[in-house]
Amino acid sequence: MDPVRVLITGAAGQIGYALAPMIARGLMLGPKQPVILHLLEIPPAATALEGVCMELTDAAFPLLHGVVATTDPDVACKDVDIACFIGGFPRKAGMERKDVMSKNVSIYKSVASSIEAHAKSNVKCVVVANPANTNAYILKKYAPKMDKKAITCLTRLDHNRMVGQVAEKCGVPNTEVDGVIVWGNHSSTQYPDVNHGTVGGKPIREVVKDDAYLDGDFVSTVQKRGAAIIAARKLSSALSAASSVCDHIRNWVVGMEGKKFVSMGVVSDGSYGITEGLVYSFPCHCKNGEWSIVQGLDIDARSKELMETTHKELLEERDLALSCLE
Ligand code: NAD
Ligand code: LMR
Repeated sequence: MDPVRVLITGAAGQIGYALAPMIARGLMLGPKQPVILHLLEIPPAATALEGVCMELTDAAFPLLHGVVATTDPDVACKDVDIACFIGGFPRKAGMERKDVMSKNVSIYKSVASSIEAHAKSNVKCVVVANPANTNAYILKKYAPKMDKKAITCLTRLDHNRMVGQVAEKCGVPNTEVDGVIVWGNHSSTQYPDVNHGTVGGKPIREVVKDDAYLDGDFVSTVQKRGAAIIAARKLSSALSAASSVCDHIRNWVVGMEGKKFVSMGVVSDGSYGITEGLVYSFPCHCKNGEWSIVQGLDIDARSKELMETTHKELLEERDLALSCLE
């Protein structure tokens, strides 16, 4: 099997440090798929990146067939099959994700030309750095020759948070929960929707029997989980983010593992009334390495309103990002 080249930007950061060994252990592409890691950092973090490389050597991962560590985005992007964009500045306590906007969107404007020019033509990208949806939007805008289906953002962490909360509430393993949906932005306006989800094959609402909880505390817990982790750790989520990046790419590239659908931030085609071109989290199904938005779900009036709130925030973020780049 030829090795797959996987780029991690911001590779010496918290998420990068958690993600590199997961990929090298086969959690992203399966236990038989060799990988070559392309690790990008900025010059001030070059020495830290050298340390990460030493550790990758020392761990002697059987699937790791090479490492390209660099501070040059063109070198980092050369021939990559998969790109995980994590490089950027994380949110600190008291900040909203849009507070990291101006610094981070300019990073995504500048890396867009490298990925467009140097990656494999069928590269698959996931943007993790916040504001994740809007950074992905900017990446797509400044890499106009790339297939718009190649650029996604991570909302799988929010999806997995929903699964974790439902499983804990029902006292069942996570694998019993399926069909939850994160709509919209990876922010506190996201809409975690359980209306199409199941526990052990039965509707979540029937099993939980507590609509007030599912429409109240459950929603706010998921929406504010990132902030709760920052408050507790004084650092933003890292192991759960890295693990969710692996899930996002594995279900996209390798297969759905029997899941009904998964939440992915993807470029809207106008489905469910969402502005075409925005990067919005939808329920997606993946087959043969291609995602598609799940169509035809019944959306009640309350859901419609919540989907619209997060839609509006994304339109505002898009305009703010474009004004930061002027
Ligand atoms: P971190 O500060 O630990 O690491 C970020 C790394 O990016 C640093 O090592 C930094 O040197 C590097 N970097 C900065 N500018 C860069 C550039 N232009 N090119 C390449 N690398 C660059 O942060 P972290 O905790 O790893 O988080 C990374 C990002 O992911 C943050 O924006 C955070 O808010 C976001 N995040 C998103 C999700 C999600 O679910 N979408 C979850 C958790 C964190
Ligand atoms: C998260 O959801 O954990 C991250 O996006 C970090 C944050 O800023 O909330």
